[in-house]
Order: sequence, then structure tokens, then C-alpha cells
Amino acid sequence: MQRLTGKVAMVTGAAAGLGLAIVRRLVDEGATVIATDIDVAKGQAAVADLARTRFLPLDVRDETQWQAVTATIVADGLTLDALVNNAGITTMGSIEALSYAQFRHELDIDLCGVFLGCRAGITAMKGRGGSIVNMSSASGLKADADLAAYNAAKAGVTLLTKSVALHCAREKYGIRCNSVHPGAIHTEMIDKVMAQVADPEALYRSFVDRHPIGELGRPEDVAAIVAYLVSDEARFATGAEFVIDGGLTL
Ligand SMILES: NC(=O)c1ccc[n+]([C@@H]2O[C@H](COP(=O)([O-])OP(=O)(O)OC[C@H]3O[C@@H](n4cnc5c(N)ncnc54)[C@H](O)[C@@H]3O)[C@@H](O)[C@H]2O)c1
Repeated sequence: MQRLTGKVAMVTGAAAGLGLAIVRRLVDEGATVIATDIDVAKGQAAVADLARTRFLPLDVRDETQWQAVTATIVADGLTLDALVNNAGITTMGSIEALSYAQFRHELDIDLCGVFLGCRAGITAMKGRGGSIVNMSSASGLKADADLAAYNAAKAGVTLLTKSVALHCAREKYGIRCNSVHPGAIHTEMIDKVMAQVADPEALYRSFVDRHPIGELGRPEDVAAIVAYLVSDEARFATGAEFVIDGGLTL
């Protein structure tokens, strides 16, 4: 008997990086997984060979698409036990360098997408309980002059998570809601961030230097914490910040 056998989990931003590693780990532990992403071709290809995994298109900014995905899950005879709000982007830039449009775009995906996800997750799970896992970041706890929009979005996720946790506890929904705070993890997101600066090699070295442990993390490091939070072993954890950052925030 595996830890997540019989559980149904949905993951956003599942076509690559942390989201795909999380899908693989949840499947490995026995869960049935609904993998979603805005990039349909990439998402379908990424999970094609995984057991008990179905791909559905979802732009986390679109409330109508959230309703369509949760309706499809119900129509398939599945009942959601966990939702992992993982989809996100990173826009580099200081308060002076960023345009208002860039700032809003970042918040639209990384914060408003999590708001819509929490609402959809609560609607789907409030009858019988479950787990919502929100992907924040070390950048949701610690500021950087060149991450004004990302800091604002991820710090928003940190406190939104606690508010959702308190609401679900007060309403006795049996739904736990926690945030995960990775340091730099080598995924395509890091490559995309490096593509936004003049000296990518120097930026990469600075990423490594900021982690006392002396290296970047791996997607599997984060997936292990998410699997724990989805499992019943985490029954007493809610509204908490799960930091996995090689010492970055120390
Ligand atoms: N990689 C890191 O160092 C790191 C560190 C801390 C937190 N995070 C967070 O982890 C999450 C995943 O990051 P990653 O490194 O795997 O990124 P990634 O760029 O490798 O993958 C992100 C995925 O999200 C999808 N996506 C983007 N916009 C979307 C939208 N509007 N709707 C649905 N899907 C969308 C992309 O298509 C992609 O498949 C993000 O929330 C990120 O902020 C990453």
C-alpha cells in the first residue's frame, strides 16, 4: 500500500519543472493525477507515458477554465483530494525597471491564479476534506531589489495561504492549506530568468553563492515535500510555510 493510493490530485503548471516532478512523485506514491498547463502540446507529451494521469488544458488566470476542469473531473467520476497550485512565472525587474503591465501580468498568474485555484479547490473538496498546496518561494519570504513583482506575488501567496487555512478550519471543511518555499531549483524557469539579464553566467553563480548548502535544488527535492503535504501524514499541518531552500533564507 503506497502513501497516496486512492487519492486524486490536480497539479497546475504540470508540463515542466517542479509541476512535472510533482506529478511524477504523486503518481509514484499511488495517486491518480490530473495534470494541467497552459501549454497543451507540451503538457500532453510530458505525461503521456505516466500511469493514472490525465492532462487537461488550464490557464490559471481564467475562472471559466477552472470551472471547466473541475466539471470534467466530476464528469469522470473522480473526487478531488488535493490541489497543487504550482503554475508560475518569474519577471525580473526593480520597482523602477518594471512597467505596470509587467507587474500586473506577474500578479495575474502567480497570485490571482492561486486565488482562483483555492476557490475552485474549496468548492471541490469542502464536502469531504483535502489538501491545498500553494507554490510560493523563498522570494515570498525574503526580498530582492530586482524581483519587485515576483516578491509581491509570492508574499501574497504566503498570506493568502494562511487566510485560506483559517477559513477552512473555521468552517470545519477538513481542508488544509499550506505554502511551499523553494530556493533556486534548476528548471526552465531559471533558464528563462537568465535569459532576461546581460550576464547569465554571473547570475547563475550568484544563485549558487546565495545558497549556503553550495548548490541549487532539484525539482525532486520540492516534490517530496508536496507529496507529504498531500498525504494524511500532514493531517495536523495547515497555514504553514514549508521552506526548502538550501539555507537561502537563513
Ligand atoms: N525554479 C525555481 O527556482 C523556483 C523557486 C521557487 C519557486 N518556484 C515556483 O515554482 C513554480 C514552478 O516553477 P518552475 O521552475 O517549475 O517553472 P517552469 O517555468 O519550469 O514551469 C512552469 C510551468 O507553468 C506553466 N504556466 C505558465 N503560465 C501559466 C498559466 N497562466 N496557467 C497555467 N500554467 C502556466 C508553464 O507552461 C510551465 O509548464 C512557480 O510557481 C515558481 O514561481 C520556482
